[in-house]
Amino acid sequence: MSKLSSKHLLGIEHLTTEDIRTILKTAADFKEVINRPIKKVPTLRDITIANLFFENSTRTRVSFELAEKRLSADVVNFSSSSSSVKKGETLLDTVNNILAMKVDMVVMRHPSPGAHVFLARHIDANVINAGDGTHEHPTQALLDAYSMQEKVGDLKGKNILIVGDITHSRVALSNIFCLKKMGANVKLCGPPTLIPKYIETLGVEVEYNIDKALAWCDVANILRIQLERQDTKYFPSLREYALVFGVNKKRLDNLKKEIVIMHPGPMNRGVEISSDVADSQHSIILQQVENGVAIRMAVLYLLAGKKG
Ligand code: CP
Repeated sequence: MSKLSSKHLLGIEHLTTEDIRTILKTAADFKEVINRPIKKVPTLRDITIANLFFENSTRTRVSFELAEKRLSADVVNFSSSSSSVKKGETLLDTVNNILAMKVDMVVMRHPSPGAHVFLARHIDANVINAGDGTHEHPTQALLDAYSMQEKVGDLKGKNILIVGDITHSRVALSNIFCLKKMGANVKLCGPPTLIPKYIETLGVEVEYNIDKALAWCDVANILRIQLERQDTKYFPSLREYALVFGVNKKRLDNLKKEIVIMHPGPMNRGVEISSDVADSQHSIILQQVENGVAIRMAVLYLLAGKKG
């Protein structure tokens, strides 16, 4: 049934370019489905999916649940804050107890990088990574690539800028893997303290001047400053960050061209992006969210029932 090279989606790093193209192409079919008056298909009628969220989420959680319901899967939702994890139960015991109730697929968000790799080694169900700490967020990168393609066409040779807190961002790492596999040129911009050393070994460039970086790109994907993951002060103040790296209307007006503006959410308006940019005609932030449902339907469909 599956045309993907793995039974799990643990990250973009180990997907093939062919896998990515298959997911994006399948998502285009599902986007057509979710824009019909009747948005539901019976494709996963016999499949039960558990959404396990050990970390907060708005977009990813709702998007996966909608994708599962549009495919007619049975869905159970688990949130660590109201579970026996609070009583000391381990991740593996928690998941094995849920699987004992005959669950076929597990979608999980977890604060520990690599938690999904550990899980996939120990359980038979398909595992889908909905974000693991600062490591990867594969479905976000896939929906970002899909949204970029809709706006600028084939990503080969396109200039894509990722701005912000690269060090703490799983979105950045998954985007870098995905965009490089699609043949795009990738540049990173942010404070030197929030750009990992040796990141150029992934085939990306770094530019510390936001105005030069914006002038170079076709698409700017703007990331949130992840204060909750920062154990030390990486820059003097949010006000200074907004002044030096914030993407605002004045900066875009100074460009001699139009660029596409993206943000994975949640946004800190007035910090990394101003409201007049976030809500402008150049912004495709809500299209990203719409495309997220189609991408997740594609991933679930392509992985469902795949063994070994
Ligand atoms: N983009 C994203 O992962 O958002 P949530 O944290 O709300 O799921």
